[in-house]
Amino acid sequence: QAQQKQKAETLSDLLEKAGDSYRKQLRAAPKAIEYLKKRGVSGEVSKRFGLGYAPAGWHGLASVFAEYDNPQLEECGLVIVGEEDGRRYDRFRDRLMFPIRNVKGECIGFGGRVFGDEKPKYLNSPETPVFHKGRELYGLFEARQALRDMGYALVTEGYMDVVALAQLGFANAVATLGTACTPDHVQKLFRFTDAVVFSFDGDGAGRRAARKALDAALPLATDTRSIKFLFLPSEHDPDSFIREYGPEAFARYVGDATPLSRFLIESASEGCDLGQTEGRAHMASNARPLWSQLPDGALKRQLLSEIAALVQLDARDLADIWAQEAARTA
Ligand code: UTP
Ligand code: MN
Ligand code: MN
Ligand code: MN
Ligand code: MN
Repeated sequence: QAQQKQKAETLSDLLEKAGDSYRKQLRAAPKAIEYLKKRGVSGEVSKRFGLGYAPAGWHGLASVFAEYDNPQLEECGLVIVGEEDGRRYDRFRDRLMFPIRNVKGECIGFGGRVFGDEKPKYLNSPETPVFHKGRELYGLFEARQALRDMGYALVTEGYMDVVALAQLGFANAVATLGTACTPDHVQKLFRFTDAVVFSFDGDGAGRRAARKALDAALPLATDTRSIKFLFLPSEHDPDSFIREYGPEAFARYVGDATPLSRFLIESASEGCDLGQTEGRAHMASNARPLWSQLPDGALKRQLLSEIAALVQLDARDLADIWAQEAARTA
């Protein structure tokens, strides 16, 4: 255990050192500076997030680390060892670098964006002993104070969403890291705040992400917490929206965000014609796996009544039907 700990600290030290080097190289990379300017990223916010530049060569890190052969460089995801020839090369080349920190502020990985349209657009650190995508949120360390001051968190999909929101007055933004929102993510956020607004891209992928976030959040939706979902126009993500329409317009979307209870009802009734008996029955069936994940409490009881009213059943009858359905599918 102690040895494991020691090791984890060393990996994070290596990542920190690489991040320092990327930061230094950003200052000498007109291409990267130009790119940030084009996207409207200020020097101040770039500094806040420690943005950097990974140079284009295959072995840029050889001039950063005395021992490029150090197996820990591979273990922390900075260096890739070729499967066939065993040759080592830098994972991140010619990319804008976003250091990812844990809640203690230690560097645990990176996201790297290409400057053009090449694929993959973002390259992320692999899973390592210090980096677990399903648990970490980009920007959480940087957002800690704002979460206390503003009283809620904005959960977005992307690095650039966090950076743009922070620059334009929403320093309480974090992002999942190219993965679906997990219960671990939500749990972690609730250590810092009791209100969360999910703010994904307005496209289909963003809608699917919101549905996954609903699943992740339901078991944690206690009566004293606030969980909401913000839906942007379909062609926008938080970055593009706030840059085009400004912070006041974004704030209005935050104010109008859909509470979890309503999103649950909307999700359950999607495609169901509540004007018809069959449609109402279908909704009742759709709602059970969502509703049943809620923790016991007032919200859960109220939703039972609301859904029962919508499907035109007594709450007690609906609860019976669901209990039978649950027993059958268990
Ligand atoms: P998006 O495709 O919405 O990108 O992916 P974006 O953040 O808006 O990027 P910009 O504005 O073009 O720079 C959302 C998030 O999904 C992850 C990243 O975390 C990204 O920020 N992602 C996306 C990847 O990990 N790899 C990819 O190739 C693409
Ligand atoms: Mn671990
Ligand atoms: Mn997207
Ligand atoms: Mn996006
Ligand atoms: Mn974007």
